Amino acid sequence: MNAVLELSRLPATRTMAATGAFDVERLRADFPILRMRVEGKPLVYLDNAASSQMPQPVIDRLVRYQTTQHANIHRAVHSLSEIATAEYEEARRKLQRFINAPDEREVIFTSGTTDAINLVMHGYGRKFIKAGDEIILTTLEHHSNIVPWQMLAEETGAKIRVVPISDAGELLMDDYENLFNERTKLVGVTHVSNALGSINPVKEMIAFAHGHGVRVLVDGAQAVPHLQVDVQDLDCDFYAFSGHKLCGPTGIGVLYGKAALLEKMQPFKGGGDMILSVSFEKTVYNTIPHKFEAGTPPIAAAIGLGAAVDYLTGIGMAAIAQHEHELLSYATAQMMEMPGVRIIGTARNKAAVLSFTVDGVHPHDLGTLLNQDGVAVRTGHHCAQPVMARFKVPATSRASFAFYNSMAEVDALITGILSVQKVFA
Ligand SMILES: Cc1ncc(COP(=O)(O)O)c(C=O)c1O
Repeated sequence: MNAVLELSRLPATRTMAATGAFDVERLRADFPILRMRVEGKPLVYLDNAASSQMPQPVIDRLVRYQTTQHANIHRAVHSLSEIATAEYEEARRKLQRFINAPDEREVIFTSGTTDAINLVMHGYGRKFIKAGDEIILTTLEHHSNIVPWQMLAEETGAKIRVVPISDAGELLMDDYENLFNERTKLVGVTHVSNALGSINPVKEMIAFAHGHGVRVLVDGAQAVPHLQVDVQDLDCDFYAFSGHKLCGPTGIGVLYGKAALLEKMQPFKGGGDMILSVSFEKTVYNTIPHKFEAGTPPIAAAIGLGAAVDYLTGIGMAAIAQHEHELLSYATAQMMEMPGVRIIGTARNKAAVLSFTVDGVHPHDLGTLLNQDGVAVRTGHHCAQPVMARFKVPATSRASFAFYNSMAEVDALITGILSVQKVFA
Protein backbone atom coordinates (compact mmCIF):
# COMPACT_ATOMS: atom_id res chain seq x y z
CA MET A 1 0.00 0.00 0.00
CA ASN A 2 1.23 3.51 -0.69
CA ALA A 3 0.57 6.89 0.83
CA VAL A 4 -2.98 7.10 -0.36
CA LEU A 5 -4.52 4.14 1.33
CA GLU A 6 -7.04 2.27 -0.65
CA LEU A 7 -9.57 1.83 2.06
CA SER A 8 -11.59 -0.54 -0.07
CA ARG A 9 -8.70 -3.02 0.15
CA LEU A 10 -8.50 -3.41 3.88
CA PRO A 11 -6.24 -5.89 5.67
CA ALA A 12 -7.64 -9.24 6.66
CA THR A 13 -7.66 -8.22 10.32
CA ARG A 14 -11.16 -6.94 9.66
CA THR A 15 -12.69 -10.22 10.68
CA MET A 16 -14.71 -9.55 13.79
CA ALA A 17 -17.93 -8.40 12.20
CA ALA A 18 -17.72 -11.19 9.68
CA THR A 19 -17.40 -13.91 12.30
CA GLY A 20 -20.11 -12.39 14.46
CA ALA A 21 -18.05 -13.36 17.49
CA PHE A 22 -18.28 -9.89 18.95
CA ASP A 23 -21.31 -7.80 18.09
CA VAL A 24 -19.89 -4.32 18.34
CA GLU A 25 -22.99 -2.67 16.90
CA ARG A 26 -25.17 -4.25 19.57
CA LEU A 27 -22.77 -3.02 22.25
CA ARG A 28 -22.60 0.46 20.75
CA ALA A 29 -26.38 0.72 21.08
CA ASP A 30 -25.89 0.61 24.86
CA PHE A 31 -23.94 3.91 24.78
CA PRO A 32 -26.21 6.93 24.23
CA ILE A 33 -23.28 9.30 23.77
CA LEU A 34 -22.03 7.33 20.78
CA ARG A 35 -25.12 8.48 18.87
CA MET A 36 -23.96 12.11 19.19
CA ARG A 37 -22.80 14.20 16.30
CA VAL A 38 -19.81 16.48 16.76
CA GLU A 39 -19.18 19.33 14.33
CA GLY A 40 -22.07 17.87 12.32
CA LYS A 41 -20.29 14.49 11.98
CA PRO A 42 -20.93 11.20 13.79
CA LEU A 43 -18.79 11.08 16.90
CA VAL A 44 -15.76 8.81 16.60
CA TYR A 45 -14.58 8.60 20.17
CA LEU A 46 -10.95 7.49 20.37
CA ASP A 47 -9.94 9.08 23.68
CA ASN A 48 -10.82 6.15 25.89
CA ALA A 49 -7.50 6.11 27.72
CA ALA A 50 -8.38 9.52 29.14
CA SER A 51 -11.94 8.54 30.03
CA SER A 52 -14.30 5.94 28.64
CA GLN A 53 -18.03 6.34 28.02
CA MET A 54 -20.88 5.06 30.14
CA PRO A 55 -23.42 2.48 28.98
CA GLN A 56 -27.15 2.81 29.68
CA PRO A 57 -27.23 0.08 32.39
CA VAL A 58 -24.73 2.09 34.44
CA ILE A 59 -26.64 5.33 33.85
CA ASP A 60 -29.86 3.52 34.86
CA ARG A 61 -28.20 2.21 38.00
CA LEU A 62 -27.17 5.73 39.01
CA VAL A 63 -30.70 7.00 38.38
CA ARG A 64 -32.21 4.15 40.42
CA TYR A 65 -29.84 4.85 43.28
CA GLN A 66 -30.54 8.59 43.27
CA THR A 67 -34.28 8.20 42.87
CA THR A 68 -34.93 5.34 45.33
CA GLN A 69 -31.92 4.47 47.48
CA HIS A 70 -29.87 7.51 48.41
CA ALA A 71 -28.91 8.30 51.99
CA ASN A 72 -25.65 8.55 53.87
CA ILE A 73 -24.06 5.21 54.75
CA HIS A 74 -22.78 3.43 57.85
CA ARG A 75 -24.43 5.98 60.12
CA ALA A 76 -28.15 5.50 60.60
CA VAL A 77 -30.74 2.86 61.33
CA HIS A 78 -33.37 4.16 58.95
CA SER A 79 -34.24 2.08 55.91
CA LEU A 80 -32.71 4.24 53.22
CA SER A 81 -29.40 4.38 55.02
CA GLU A 82 -29.41 0.62 55.43
CA ILE A 83 -30.19 0.13 51.73
CA ALA A 84 -27.50 2.59 50.62
CA THR A 85 -24.97 0.94 52.96
CA ALA A 86 -25.81 -2.53 51.66
CA GLU A 87 -25.53 -1.38 48.03
CA TYR A 88 -22.22 0.39 48.67
CA GLU A 89 -20.75 -2.67 50.36
CA GLU A 90 -22.14 -4.92 47.62
CA ALA A 91 -20.32 -2.69 45.10
CA ARG A 92 -17.12 -3.33 47.04
CA ARG A 93 -17.67 -7.09 46.69
CA LYS A 94 -18.26 -6.69 42.95
CA LEU A 95 -14.91 -4.91 42.63
CA GLN A 96 -13.31 -7.59 44.81
CA ARG A 97 -14.53 -10.30 42.42
CA PHE A 98 -13.56 -8.23 39.36
CA ILE A 99 -9.87 -8.21 40.35
CA ASN A 100 -10.05 -11.50 42.27
CA ALA A 101 -8.99 -9.96 45.58
CA PRO A 102 -9.09 -12.56 48.35
CA ASP A 103 -10.90 -10.36 50.86
CA GLU A 104 -13.40 -7.51 50.46
CA ARG A 105 -11.56 -5.59 53.20
CA GLU A 106 -8.67 -5.26 50.75
CA VAL A 107 -10.75 -3.10 48.38
CA ILE A 108 -10.61 0.57 49.34
CA PHE A 109 -12.75 3.06 47.47
CA THR A 110 -10.74 6.14 46.54
CA SER A 111 -11.51 9.02 44.22
CA GLY A 112 -9.35 7.48 41.48
CA THR A 113 -5.90 6.16 40.67
CA THR A 114 -4.16 9.38 41.69
CA ASP A 115 -5.86 9.32 45.06
CA ALA A 116 -5.04 5.62 45.50
CA ILE A 117 -1.34 6.18 44.81
CA ASN A 118 -1.28 9.15 47.16
CA LEU A 119 -2.88 6.93 49.79
CA VAL A 120 -0.02 4.44 49.45
CA MET A 121 2.53 7.24 49.56
CA HIS A 122 1.09 8.72 52.75
CA GLY A 123 -0.05 5.51 54.42
CA TYR A 124 2.84 3.22 53.53
CA GLY A 125 5.63 5.45 52.22
CA ARG A 126 5.71 7.98 55.02
CA LYS A 127 5.73 5.22 57.61
CA PHE A 128 8.17 2.75 56.06
CA ILE A 129 10.44 4.70 53.69
CA LYS A 130 13.31 6.63 55.23
CA ALA A 131 16.33 8.74 54.23
CA GLY A 132 18.64 6.82 51.90
CA ASP A 133 15.97 4.26 50.97
CA GLU A 134 15.27 3.77 47.27
CA ILE A 135 12.08 3.67 45.26
CA ILE A 136 12.16 2.14 41.78
CA LEU A 137 9.87 3.70 39.17
CA THR A 138 9.86 3.31 35.40
CA THR A 139 10.19 5.74 32.51
CA LEU A 140 6.66 4.71 31.50
CA GLU A 141 4.93 6.09 34.58
CA HIS A 142 2.06 8.54 34.45
CA HIS A 143 2.83 11.68 36.46
CA SER A 144 0.50 10.39 39.17
CA ASN A 145 2.95 7.58 39.88
CA ILE A 146 5.94 9.91 39.85
CA VAL A 147 5.06 13.12 41.64
CA PRO A 148 3.79 11.60 44.94
CA TRP A 149 7.08 9.67 45.22
CA GLN A 150 9.09 12.79 44.48
CA MET A 151 7.19 14.54 47.26
CA LEU A 152 8.05 11.66 49.59
CA ALA A 153 11.68 11.70 48.50
CA GLU A 154 11.88 15.41 49.17
CA GLU A 155 10.34 14.97 52.58
CA THR A 156 12.36 11.95 53.70
CA GLY A 157 15.61 12.04 51.76
CA ALA A 158 14.73 8.81 49.92
CA LYS A 159 15.98 8.36 46.33
CA ILE A 160 14.14 7.55 43.13
CA ARG A 161 15.71 5.17 40.62
CA VAL A 162 14.23 4.83 37.14
CA VAL A 163 13.98 1.80 34.85
CA PRO A 164 14.82 2.85 31.28
CA ILE A 165 12.93 1.73 28.17
CA SER A 166 13.97 0.53 24.72
CA ASP A 167 13.21 2.33 21.46
CA ALA A 168 10.11 0.14 21.22
CA GLY A 169 8.86 1.37 24.58
CA GLU A 170 9.60 -1.82 26.50
CA LEU A 171 11.13 -1.82 29.97
CA LEU A 172 14.78 -2.91 30.02
CA MET A 173 14.50 -5.78 32.42
CA ASP A 174 18.23 -6.24 33.03
CA ASP A 175 18.42 -2.63 34.12
CA TYR A 176 15.40 -3.18 36.34
CA GLU A 177 17.06 -6.08 38.11
CA ASN A 178 20.35 -4.21 38.43
CA LEU A 179 18.66 -1.35 40.26
CA PHE A 180 17.93 -3.51 43.31
CA ASN A 181 20.11 -3.24 46.37
CA GLU A 182 19.67 -3.44 50.13
CA ARG A 183 18.21 0.08 50.19
CA THR A 184 15.37 -0.68 47.75
CA LYS A 185 12.03 -0.42 49.53
CA LEU A 186 9.32 -0.09 46.88
CA VAL A 187 8.66 -0.57 43.17
CA GLY A 188 5.99 1.52 41.46
CA VAL A 189 5.14 0.34 37.96
CA THR A 190 2.34 0.93 35.53
CA HIS A 191 0.71 -2.26 34.24
CA VAL A 192 -0.05 -0.65 30.85
CA SER A 193 1.53 2.60 29.64
CA ASN A 194 -1.08 5.26 28.96
CA ALA A 195 1.23 7.03 26.51
CA LEU A 196 2.43 4.02 24.47
CA GLY A 197 0.19 1.10 25.33
CA SER A 198 3.13 -1.15 26.33
CA ILE A 199 2.00 -3.96 28.63
CA ASN A 200 4.68 -4.40 31.25
CA PRO A 201 5.71 -7.83 32.59
CA VAL A 202 4.45 -6.92 36.05
CA LYS A 203 4.06 -10.50 37.28
CA GLU A 204 7.76 -11.19 36.67
CA MET A 205 8.72 -7.81 38.10
CA ILE A 206 6.74 -8.49 41.26
CA ALA A 207 8.28 -11.94 41.69
CA PHE A 208 11.77 -10.45 41.32
CA ALA A 209 11.02 -7.64 43.80
CA HIS A 210 9.56 -10.05 46.32
CA GLY A 211 12.71 -12.13 46.00
CA HIS A 212 14.47 -9.05 47.42
CA GLY A 213 11.82 -8.39 50.06
CA VAL A 214 10.56 -5.32 48.17
CA ARG A 215 6.87 -4.28 47.95
CA VAL A 216 5.25 -3.46 44.61
CA LEU A 217 2.54 -0.95 43.75
CA VAL A 218 0.98 -1.47 40.32
CA ASP A 219 -0.79 1.40 38.59
CA GLY A 220 -3.57 -0.46 36.81
CA ALA A 221 -5.45 2.55 35.43
CA GLN A 222 -4.87 1.49 31.82
CA ALA A 223 -4.94 -2.25 32.44
CA VAL A 224 -8.28 -2.97 34.10
CA PRO A 225 -10.33 -1.67 31.13
CA HIS A 226 -8.54 -4.01 28.71
CA LEU A 227 -7.19 -7.09 30.50
CA GLN A 228 -8.45 -9.64 32.96
CA VAL A 229 -6.61 -8.57 36.10
CA ASP A 230 -6.10 -11.06 38.92
CA VAL A 231 -4.31 -9.51 41.87
CA GLN A 232 -3.73 -12.91 43.48
CA ASP A 233 -2.08 -14.24 40.36
CA LEU A 234 0.06 -11.10 40.08
CA ASP A 235 0.77 -11.21 43.82
CA CYS A 236 1.06 -7.39 43.84
CA ASP A 237 1.06 -5.62 47.18
CA PHE A 238 -1.01 -2.68 45.91
CA TYR A 239 -3.06 -2.20 42.74
CA ALA A 240 -4.69 1.13 41.83
CA PHE A 241 -7.28 2.03 39.20
CA SER A 242 -10.00 4.55 38.25
CA GLY A 243 -13.71 4.04 37.58
CA HIS A 244 -14.05 6.56 34.80
CA LYS A 245 -11.74 4.60 32.49
CA LEU A 246 -13.85 1.52 33.15
CA CYS A 247 -17.25 2.70 31.89
CA GLY A 248 -18.02 3.95 35.40
CA PRO A 249 -18.46 7.40 36.91
CA THR A 250 -15.77 9.96 37.66
CA GLY A 251 -14.72 10.55 41.27
CA ILE A 252 -14.37 6.87 42.13
CA GLY A 253 -11.47 4.45 42.02
CA VAL A 254 -10.00 1.53 43.88
CA LEU A 255 -6.90 0.75 45.82
CA TYR A 256 -6.38 -2.95 46.37
CA GLY A 257 -3.87 -3.67 49.12
CA LYS A 258 -2.88 -6.84 50.93
CA ALA A 259 -4.70 -6.87 54.26
CA ALA A 260 -1.55 -7.42 56.32
CA LEU A 261 -0.01 -4.28 54.81
CA LEU A 262 -3.13 -2.16 55.06
CA GLU A 263 -3.40 -3.07 58.74
CA LYS A 264 0.09 -1.69 59.38
CA MET A 265 -0.37 1.51 57.40
CA GLN A 266 -1.18 4.97 58.65
CA PRO A 267 -4.54 6.43 57.59
CA PHE A 268 -4.22 8.96 54.77
CA LYS A 269 -7.11 11.27 55.62
CA GLY A 270 -8.71 11.85 58.99
CA GLY A 271 -12.38 12.44 59.69
CA GLY A 272 -15.71 10.71 60.16
CA ASP A 273 -16.21 7.01 59.43
CA MET A 274 -12.50 6.18 59.64
CA ILE A 275 -12.61 6.01 63.44
CA LEU A 276 -13.96 3.68 66.10
CA SER A 277 -13.81 6.29 68.85
CA VAL A 278 -12.63 9.87 69.25
CA SER A 279 -11.78 11.88 72.32
CA PHE A 280 -9.41 14.81 72.65
CA GLU A 281 -7.00 12.45 74.38
CA LYS A 282 -7.04 9.60 71.88
CA THR A 283 -8.58 8.46 68.61
CA VAL A 284 -8.92 4.79 67.73
CA TYR A 285 -8.99 4.16 64.01
CA ASN A 286 -11.57 1.99 62.30
CA THR A 287 -10.75 -1.40 60.81
CA ILE A 288 -9.79 -1.76 57.14
CA PRO A 289 -11.05 -0.75 54.64
CA HIS A 290 -12.94 1.98 56.55
CA LYS A 291 -9.73 3.31 58.11
CA PHE A 292 -8.92 4.65 54.64
CA GLU A 293 -12.37 5.99 53.71
CA ALA A 294 -12.71 9.18 55.73
CA GLY A 295 -15.85 11.26 55.37
CA THR A 296 -18.87 10.58 53.19
CA PRO A 297 -17.58 8.56 50.25
CA PRO A 298 -18.83 8.87 46.66
CA ILE A 299 -21.64 6.40 47.35
CA ALA A 300 -23.47 6.75 44.04
CA ALA A 301 -20.23 6.55 42.09
CA ALA A 302 -19.15 3.37 43.89
CA ILE A 303 -22.51 1.74 43.14
CA GLY A 304 -22.24 2.93 39.54
CA LEU A 305 -18.77 1.39 39.30
CA GLY A 306 -20.20 -1.86 40.62
CA ALA A 307 -22.72 -1.76 37.77
CA ALA A 308 -19.93 -0.98 35.30
CA VAL A 309 -17.90 -4.05 36.24
CA ASP A 310 -21.07 -6.16 36.02
CA TYR A 311 -21.52 -4.81 32.50
CA LEU A 312 -17.93 -5.55 31.48
CA THR A 313 -18.01 -8.98 33.06
CA GLY A 314 -21.20 -9.66 31.09
CA ILE A 315 -19.31 -9.01 27.85
CA GLY A 316 -16.22 -10.86 29.10
CA MET A 317 -12.77 -9.34 29.48
CA ALA A 318 -11.25 -11.94 27.16
CA ALA A 319 -13.66 -10.96 24.37
CA ILE A 320 -12.96 -7.27 25.04
CA ALA A 321 -9.20 -7.84 24.85
CA GLN A 322 -9.55 -9.79 21.61
CA HIS A 323 -11.67 -7.12 19.88
CA GLU A 324 -9.38 -4.31 21.01
CA HIS A 325 -6.38 -6.26 19.82
CA GLU A 326 -7.97 -6.49 16.37
CA LEU A 327 -8.66 -2.75 16.36
CA LEU A 328 -5.09 -2.01 17.37
CA SER A 329 -3.59 -4.39 14.78
CA TYR A 330 -5.80 -2.99 12.06
CA ALA A 331 -4.95 0.63 12.88
CA THR A 332 -1.25 -0.12 13.36
CA ALA A 333 -0.97 -1.97 10.04
CA GLN A 334 -2.42 1.02 8.22
CA MET A 335 -0.39 3.67 10.00
CA MET A 336 2.84 1.79 9.37
CA GLU A 337 2.20 2.22 5.65
CA MET A 338 1.63 5.97 5.83
CA PRO A 339 4.64 8.12 4.88
CA GLY A 340 5.28 10.83 7.44
CA VAL A 341 3.48 8.96 10.20
CA ARG A 342 5.65 7.66 13.02
CA ILE A 343 4.20 5.32 15.61
CA ILE A 344 5.65 6.02 19.04
CA GLY A 345 5.67 2.80 21.03
CA THR A 346 6.00 -0.49 19.21
CA ALA A 347 6.26 -2.90 22.12
CA ARG A 348 5.54 -6.54 21.27
CA ASN A 349 2.85 -6.63 23.92
CA LYS A 350 0.51 -3.66 23.64
CA ALA A 351 -3.02 -2.73 24.66
CA ALA A 352 -5.45 -0.42 22.90
CA VAL A 353 -3.22 2.68 22.58
CA LEU A 354 -1.73 4.08 19.39
CA SER A 355 0.51 7.11 19.85
CA PHE A 356 1.88 8.74 16.75
CA THR A 357 3.32 11.86 15.18
CA VAL A 358 2.74 13.21 11.69
CA ASP A 359 5.63 15.01 10.00
CA GLY A 360 5.05 18.72 9.61
CA VAL A 361 1.82 18.73 11.62
CA HIS A 362 1.74 19.75 15.26
CA PRO A 363 -0.32 17.25 17.29
CA HIS A 364 -2.65 20.02 18.45
CA ASP A 365 -3.37 21.02 14.85
CA LEU A 366 -3.96 17.39 13.99
CA GLY A 367 -6.34 16.98 16.94
CA THR A 368 -8.21 20.15 16.05
CA LEU A 369 -8.65 19.16 12.41
CA LEU A 370 -9.63 15.58 13.26
CA ASN A 371 -12.24 17.02 15.61
CA GLN A 372 -13.80 18.79 12.65
CA ASP A 373 -14.37 15.30 11.23
CA GLY A 374 -15.95 14.20 14.51
CA VAL A 375 -12.85 12.21 15.50
CA ALA A 376 -11.80 12.69 19.13
CA VAL A 377 -8.16 11.86 19.87
CA ARG A 378 -5.90 13.13 22.63
CA THR A 379 -2.93 15.31 21.83
CA GLY A 380 -0.20 16.42 24.22
CA HIS A 381 2.22 14.80 26.62
CA HIS A 382 -0.44 12.52 28.16
CA CYS A 383 0.82 13.27 31.69
CA ALA A 384 3.89 11.21 30.80
CA GLN A 385 6.55 13.78 30.05
CA PRO A 386 9.47 11.38 30.73
CA VAL A 387 8.13 9.19 27.90
CA MET A 388 8.00 12.19 25.56
CA ALA A 389 11.55 13.14 26.56
CA ARG A 390 12.75 9.58 25.88
CA PHE A 391 11.39 9.75 22.33
CA LYS A 392 12.50 13.38 21.93
CA VAL A 393 9.02 14.62 21.03
CA PRO A 394 7.13 17.36 22.89
CA ALA A 395 3.81 15.67 22.31
CA THR A 396 2.05 12.94 20.36
CA SER A 397 -1.42 12.30 19.06
CA ARG A 398 -3.00 9.32 20.74
CA ALA A 399 -5.88 7.19 19.56
CA SER A 400 -7.02 4.90 22.34
CA PHE A 401 -9.60 2.22 21.76
CA ALA A 402 -12.41 0.69 23.75
CA PHE A 403 -14.42 -2.44 23.01
CA TYR A 404 -17.25 -0.31 21.58
CA ASN A 405 -15.04 1.09 18.82
CA SER A 406 -15.50 -0.33 15.37
CA MET A 407 -13.24 -0.96 12.41
CA ALA A 408 -15.20 1.75 10.58
CA GLU A 409 -14.04 4.20 13.25
CA VAL A 410 -10.44 3.21 12.63
CA ASP A 411 -11.11 3.93 8.95
CA ALA A 412 -12.46 7.37 9.92
CA LEU A 413 -9.25 8.07 11.86
CA ILE A 414 -7.02 7.02 8.97
CA THR A 415 -9.06 8.97 6.43
CA GLY A 416 -8.93 11.99 8.74
CA ILE A 417 -5.14 11.83 9.06
CA LEU A 418 -4.78 11.54 5.29
CA SER A 419 -6.88 14.64 4.74
CA VAL A 420 -4.90 16.59 7.35
CA GLN A 421 -1.70 15.56 5.56
CA LYS A 422 -3.17 16.95 2.34
CA VAL A 423 -3.94 20.26 4.03
CA PHE A 424 -0.34 20.54 5.24
CA ALA A 425 1.26 19.16 2.03
C1 LIG B 1 -1.52 5.00 33.77
C2 LIG B 1 -2.33 6.04 34.48
N1 LIG B 1 -2.15 6.23 35.79
C3 LIG B 1 -2.84 7.13 36.47
C4 LIG B 1 -3.77 7.92 35.86
C5 LIG B 1 -4.52 8.93 36.69
O1 LIG B 1 -5.87 8.56 36.76
P1 LIG B 1 -6.91 9.53 37.48
O2 LIG B 1 -6.76 10.86 36.82
O3 LIG B 1 -8.23 8.87 37.20
O4 LIG B 1 -6.57 9.55 38.92
C6 LIG B 1 -4.01 7.78 34.51
C7 LIG B 1 -4.96 8.66 33.80
O5 LIG B 1 -4.85 8.91 32.63
C8 LIG B 1 -3.27 6.81 33.80
O6 LIG B 1 -3.45 6.64 32.49
